[in-house]
Amino acid sequence: MSTLPGPLSLVAELTHRCPLHCVYCSNPLQMQSAKDELSTEDWARVFHQAAALGVLHLHLTGGEPLARSDIAKLVAAGREANLYVNMITSGLGLTADRMIELKDAGLEHIQLSLQDADEEKANEFAGARAHAHKLKLATLIRQQDIAFTVNVVVHRENLDRLEDILALAESLEPQRIEVAHVQYYGWALKNRDRLMPTPSQVERSVQLIQEAQSRLSGRIQLQAVFPDYYARYPKPCVGGWGRQMMLIDPAGLALPCHAAAIIPGMEFDSVRTHSLEWLWQQSPAFNRFRGQSWMKEPCADCDRREIDFGGCRCQAFQLTGDPANTDPACSLSDLHADLVAITQTPPPPPSQWVYRILANS
Ligand code: SF4
Ligand code: FES
Repeated sequence: MSTLPGPLSLVAELTHRCPLHCVYCSNPLQMQSAKDELSTEDWARVFHQAAALGVLHLHLTGGEPLARSDIAKLVAAGREANLYVNMITSGLGLTADRMIELKDAGLEHIQLSLQDADEEKANEFAGARAHAHKLKLATLIRQQDIAFTVNVVVHRENLDRLEDILALAESLEPQRIEVAHVQYYGWALKNRDRLMPTPSQVERSVQLIQEAQSRLSGRIQLQAVFPDYYARYPKPCVGGWGRQMMLIDPAGLALPCHAAAIIPGMEFDSVRTHSLEWLWQQSPAFNRFRGQSWMKEPCADCDRREIDFGGCRCQAFQLTGDPANTDPACSLSDLHADLVAITQTPPPPPSQWVYRILANS
């Protein structure tokens, strides 16, 4: 009998189809096409296996989960498996009738993304005219009495409007606002030159967030994710590799994090051929960076190795070429100075955005 604790959350990337083309999307550059997506029955089986493994939270995401015509059935399958069901959505494709259908199916939490307070800029970052529609949706969500989070991704080109963004998010009356600085994976890495905030923008954002947290206290919970390029120590990415979270991609591949496919030599097994229990406990992908035996110096002897687990494997690979290296976001990494230099570099002249495009959709 294995004593390995099970994951707490399952991220179900139901589809990579999406009406938006966000310039900071964390989806992989090589996405799965619609014809390869898991069926309703496959997902229902996965949700039951997840619950048996100890998963509590199910996050239905994508792409855009509403692009699945069976989304209500998938919500119901998650609830039947006794999971807390959250849907992460751009809101495109959500109507009053569909909202009622989702509520009746057992949807407990909805996370709606906003790109900016300025409509024109919001639509530019999303690569679609979506902003006005999103604002109307907040009313629909509140009418259904579903727990509601507004999520805003911030970066150099919208941080100077953070006060307006916070005011807009507050006006939508969610229970929770999440302000997340861009994390540089997937499409965001392609647009890093334009997205990377200046140090003074980051400083100012910390101050504004703290002020807003005091103002909103007891009414709206405000959480912030700051960019680790500016931090002293890295984030414990995904709570540590193979420790808390499993991600299933649209075609059924099980990944320890959303970016793991960028690491050369990684092979991912599928829920089509293996149980979730096997994937979690025995698959090579989940065991590759578990524990500490893979760590190099300085992580191998560091007091924080059970706190941040050496940071992010994918970022370590992207920035150093070796996923077993210390994440350069750590000030103890030999390569940290290079990362700091990136944040200090004056912004280049505006380049064209690289928009997220799904080939073969
Ligand atoms: Fe974390 Fe490694 Fe840095 Fe220590 S050396 S703080 S374990 S990333
Ligand atoms: Fe893969 Fe951080 S995104 S470990």
